[in-house]
Amino acid sequence: MKALILAGGAGTRLRPITHTSAKQLVPVANKPILFYGIEAMVAAGITDIGVIVGETRAEVMAAVGDGSRWGARVTYIPQDQPLGLAHCVLIAADFLGDDDFVMYLGDNLLEQDLAAFVKAFEEARRSSEPPAAQILLKQVPDPHRFGIAELDGAGNVVRLVEKPADPPTDLALVGVYLFDRTINEAVRAIEPSGRGELEITDAIQWLVDEGHRVRCELLSGWWIDTGKLTPLLEANRLLLEVIESRIDGDVDDASTVDGRVVVEAGAVVRNSTLRGPLVIGAGARITDSFIGPFSAIGDGCEVVHSEIEHSVIMERSRIIEIPRLEDSLIGREAEITRTGRRPRALRLMIGDHCQIDTE
Ligand code: TTP
Repeated sequence: MKALILAGGAGTRLRPITHTSAKQLVPVANKPILFYGIEAMVAAGITDIGVIVGETRAEVMAAVGDGSRWGARVTYIPQDQPLGLAHCVLIAADFLGDDDFVMYLGDNLLEQDLAAFVKAFEEARRSSEPPAAQILLKQVPDPHRFGIAELDGAGNVVRLVEKPADPPTDLALVGVYLFDRTINEAVRAIEPSGRGELEITDAIQWLVDEGHRVRCELLSGWWIDTGKLTPLLEANRLLLEVIESRIDGDVDDASTVDGRVVVEAGAVVRNSTLRGPLVIGAGARITDSFIGPFSAIGDGCEVVHSEIEHSVIMERSRIIEIPRLEDSLIGREAEITRTGRRPRALRLMIGDHCQIDTE
């Protein structure tokens, strides 16, 4: 079994961050989203991993390397344009060969581990009616926003519909799919959709229409497509909620630490309140500040005389004299300062290297 992780794409919904960097490398709880996916594959016993990379390939390749850090072997597959999820399968043909594989969207995060999901497919493949694919479904309250599956009485997929106005079920497709080699034929057979992409839902529908069995599994834990700001902050919150407290940095006696708090080695906290769950990255400096629940302060950040809550602050950014920053995503090496006296709360999504003076 191989894995194909999709880390190309345009990331238009996370601009301006994605103008300069890959959305799959935005950190949640101070770890790039993509790393959770790689770890999930390795935990499911899959170490032969293909990664689709697009415009941001240099950054993704630098961050992931050859995979040996996870005991995996990573093969990069460049995609010149984001022509769709099924296009990723098409261009990965040489890497995939005739093997079964898991396809995983590199910006998705799942609570549940995937080992049971992979095992269920492997077992079903040994049955008298082996499926050509297995999809993962999650009940959602707002099915018109998702790709939705319709099932027969035996729990096999009969139809997939994208964002239906009148949803036949509330079962949304989660960004994890299992395929056997038949999918290679499917992605060659389908045509681009109205938005000009080769859609994986069309390829799976092709399998069904050609008489292949497509089975499904229901996901019980949370699943988040982190491609937008609100779900990204939500993922950060959910992951921080289960973090194990650990203080490896230097926190002085004038500071207080409450709840689940991680302070990484080399971080320095002076005269501040840390109210978890939160994480302070390696080498960060927090001075005369309040860091509230669900904050992830990246490595090498500096926070002075400011209050931060429910926000992701990426590496080496500086937040100086800001009375309150909440529900925000701040890119790398950004600087937010205040020279005036007007106190107000800020909610921001700021790209890398930006400088903002709030007056
Ligand atoms: P999407 O979130 O569906 O697409 P996108 O990355 O283009 O984002 P946006 O809609 O904000 O412009 O992609 C899901 C995952 O698959 C994501 O990790 C990017 C990746 N992907 C590719 O690698 N190649 C592709 O052609 C597409 C469409 C997505």
